[in-house]
Amino acid sequence: MKTLSTVVLTLVGVALVCYAYLLSGWYNIGATAHHNALTLSVLDLTLDRSVAHHASGLQTPATVQEPATLRAGARLYSQRCQGCHGAPGIKPGATSMYPQAPDLTKEANEWSVPQLFWIVKNGIKMSGMPKYEGTLKDEEIWAIATFTAESPKLNPAQYQDLSFDSTAVAPH
Ligand code: HEC
Repeated sequence: MKTLSTVVLTLVGVALVCYAYLLSGWYNIGATAHHNALTLSVLDLTLDRSVAHHASGLQTPATVQEPATLRAGARLYSQRCQGCHGAPGIKPGATSMYPQAPDLTKEANEWSVPQLFWIVKNGIKMSGMPKYEGTLKDEEIWAIATFTAESPKLNPAQYQDLSFDSTAVAPH
């Protein structure tokens, strides 16, 4: 019984100290003060496990195999994602964000197509990664996910070719 009350009192004490620290305002919320290694690994693990769990039940539509889907995805990616994340031959643009938008031509290999679909549809809390639910149709998000998964294998010329919108009216 004595051990139990010692454990409970210690936990209450730790919670009060944490609360007092938050109230003090000493924590630097600025984007200039980067996370320490422990916080970064907790955030990475949370992202990996949450996306894996939430994307596990998704059924990938057969259309992702079609070349037209890759092309549509490349076009949408160039309009919606390239500014922050870069693309084959184009460096990420949003370099003042923290966390920074990663270069997906290097990082997209970490994710499957359904996981990319889930991330793009839902966004990522407290990070600056927007959600596209309500802005894009699921079909468009699957196309973006298909292209994003393929992007590490593409060179700049292939990307320019895929993302070129042949239906756009050329200026006179
Ligand atoms: C306003 C800038 C911005 C835009 C636009 C944006 N993102 Fe992001 N994205 C981010 C940031 C910032 C992160 C980093 C989140 C983190 O590390 O927790 C991120 C994270 C991601 C991740 C997870 C990467 C990883 O390995 O940690 C994927 C995948 C992703 N974005 C895909 C996309 C796609 C595809 C689009 C276009 C539909 C897009 N993003 C549009 C800012 C953006």
